[in-house]
Amino acid sequence: MSEQSDLFSAPAPAAPAAVASKVEALRAQLNRWAHEYYVQDAPSVPDAEYDRVFQQLQALEGAYPGLVTPDSPTQRVIGAVMEGLASVRHAVPMLSIQTETDTEASGAEGFDARVRRELGLSEADPAVEYVAEPKFDGLAMSLRYEGGRLVQAATRGDGEVGEDVTHNIRTIRQIPLVLPAGVPPVLEVRGEVYMRRADFERLNERQREKGDKTFVNPRNAAAGAVRQLDSAITAQRPLSFFAYGLGEVTAADQGGPDFGTHYALLQQLKTWGFPVAPQVSIAQGASELVAFHQRLGAERDRLPYDIDGVVYKVNRLDLQRQLGFKTREPRWAVAHKYPAQEMLTRCEAIDVQVGRTGKLTPVARLAPVFVGGVTVTNATLHNLFEIRKKGVRVGDQVIVRRAGDVIPEVVGCVPAAADAAGRALPRSPYVANFRMPRACPVCGSSVVREAGEMNHRCTGGLFCPAQRKQAVLHFAQRRALDIEGLGEKLVDQLVDSGRITALPDLYRLTLADLAGLDRMGEKSAQNLLDALQQSRRTTLARFLYGLGIRHVGEATAKDLARHFGSLDALMDAGLQELLQVADVGPIVAESIHRFFAQPHNREVVQALRAAGLSWEEGAPTEAAAQPLAGKTVVLTGTLPTLSRDAAKELLEAAGAKVSGSVSKKTDYVVAGAEAGSKLAKAQELGVPVLDEAGMQALLRGEG
Ligand code: IVH
Repeated sequence: MSEQSDLFSAPAPAAPAAVASKVEALRAQLNRWAHEYYVQDAPSVPDAEYDRVFQQLQALEGAYPGLVTPDSPTQRVIGAVMEGLASVRHAVPMLSIQTETDTEASGAEGFDARVRRELGLSEADPAVEYVAEPKFDGLAMSLRYEGGRLVQAATRGDGEVGEDVTHNIRTIRQIPLVLPAGVPPVLEVRGEVYMRRADFERLNERQREKGDKTFVNPRNAAAGAVRQLDSAITAQRPLSFFAYGLGEVTAADQGGPDFGTHYALLQQLKTWGFPVAPQVSIAQGASELVAFHQRLGAERDRLPYDIDGVVYKVNRLDLQRQLGFKTREPRWAVAHKYPAQEMLTRCEAIDVQVGRTGKLTPVARLAPVFVGGVTVTNATLHNLFEIRKKGVRVGDQVIVRRAGDVIPEVVGCVPAAADAAGRALPRSPYVANFRMPRACPVCGSSVVREAGEMNHRCTGGLFCPAQRKQAVLHFAQRRALDIEGLGEKLVDQLVDSGRITALPDLYRLTLADLAGLDRMGEKSAQNLLDALQQSRRTTLARFLYGLGIRHVGEATAKDLARHFGSLDALMDAGLQELLQVADVGPIVAESIHRFFAQPHNREVVQALRAAGLSWEEGAPTEAAAQPLAGKTVVLTGTLPTLSRDAAKELLEAAGAKVSGSVSKKTDYVVAGAEAGSKLAKAQELGVPVLDEAGMQALLRGEG
């Protein structure tokens, strides 16, 4: 250093002792969180909270550079190799990306300005071309192919050394195990393993039903699945993959490819069979980066997977090389964030809501918090057992997640106070644990929880106002009483205005009642009355299904109607008699019995009859009278409207046996789109093949 600069640069200020100990405390905190996140796959705070503390530490270190140590969380890529999985040294390090936390347009503009400056471009020069991609919220993966075969899959770890998870990655169907001829002899494809939201919701639903631990978010579920020692467990947790770059590749001068641009490289990966996100776009200059950020931000909720931002990359690979790296981050790329989908806030109260099937859902009332782009004040806690497992109590800080169209939920809890070692301090003994009410908070009916069930339910049925709207909609649907024109908006108005308090009120509606409603002309009012009139003549099966008795679906309703022949016979049936019905087990029998034991449900039924609802009643029928009794049916392919389960249920309710394979004994094969070998076999054996419409005709006895 010259004398001159000594004179002009101020010496770094010595840090006060209080700052030094604060810095130490922040590091300890961040290290603990990082360990929970990377090693245990069980973070206790949302990312946004980690980022906030990280930035606090960065700011203090910036002000007092003398405090920076090489092992500070700000100085390295965090991650650790878990015991039990082998270590893999990456041939080319897996870098991290500089993150722009400014979620406004300025975030993209700042990046473009830096790139232009570093490339020595002036204002007169044309716009820099970028590739803009979603920033997937999963975990980074390096897939190594040698001679076109997948030989190794490794996590990022600390960027230099990751974990060998090849056995687990092989379970991901989207990842090709063998590549087409002509790929470079050595090819490392880098990308993100993630879990789609729908898959995540289903997985958590399963976990909740079993009373098992639920996952905080799709990323944690994915990370946990990837790092399993037992790949059978991974296989049960549906994972997906998007490719976004390369690691080691056979060099161009050794016969490897020269892609020219990042975009061309992604297109090539696509033709080799790797999934590349359809949103990936080319953007010219800052303005198109901003437009991409906004466009994807507007789409974010509707995407099938979580993203926490977008990534911009300079498109030309020669310019990328020219820009190079700064420690562990390339200068040619940046991640531009969106508002966080998980935030910390205070749980101010826990209320109970009654849903459409009478399920009681505890709901946390929250101090308002901006999460996933909206202000949230309520979040579901799912059920009593979830609350207990998460240890949530009124007054706690809770982690709220809002992603996509899924309703906001409390996914975790941060104990209000912790000691120096991070151990939770005992909470106020004055805050009681949450309890489920014994009576429905809306109608006062008793609350029950069936053995083995996680959910509490109101037994009020049609009598409970909270269940009424849903009950009316269910009653009116096509497969029940088929009341055309009675949709959600109308039902809301009818129930909210008090015109309907129970199903029988529907049949007392007059033109005058309807005229006063929003967007209801005289013509549509008359149409609705006509539809109501038509619905008076129905079938016992439709009527039973329309009542919305828990566990009584369309098929069971048909079974019941057939078995008992008359409504009175069914209403007076004891449990033993109900169990005689084909496909009615103890749970269904119990539910039917309990429904008709409630006096108000009987009243509703009588009132509907009094309002003129009628159907043909008959003598109880024997199973042999079922249209498909004794027939064997095989389902194959995807049907246009029915799920495989629904089709099976309908067939079985009609007396058919649904089998998995086609033989000479098969009576019918019902084939949908992409039917494969079973269809071929049926044709070979001359077994009649039906489509969904044909199957429906068969079910109606028109076969
Ligand atoms: S490129 C040199 N592209 O973000 C750049 N990363 O800190 C290497 N990520 O853990 C990464 N979406 O797993 C890149 N479209 C995308 C990405 C992406 C998500 C993750 C990546 C890594 C982190 C970068």
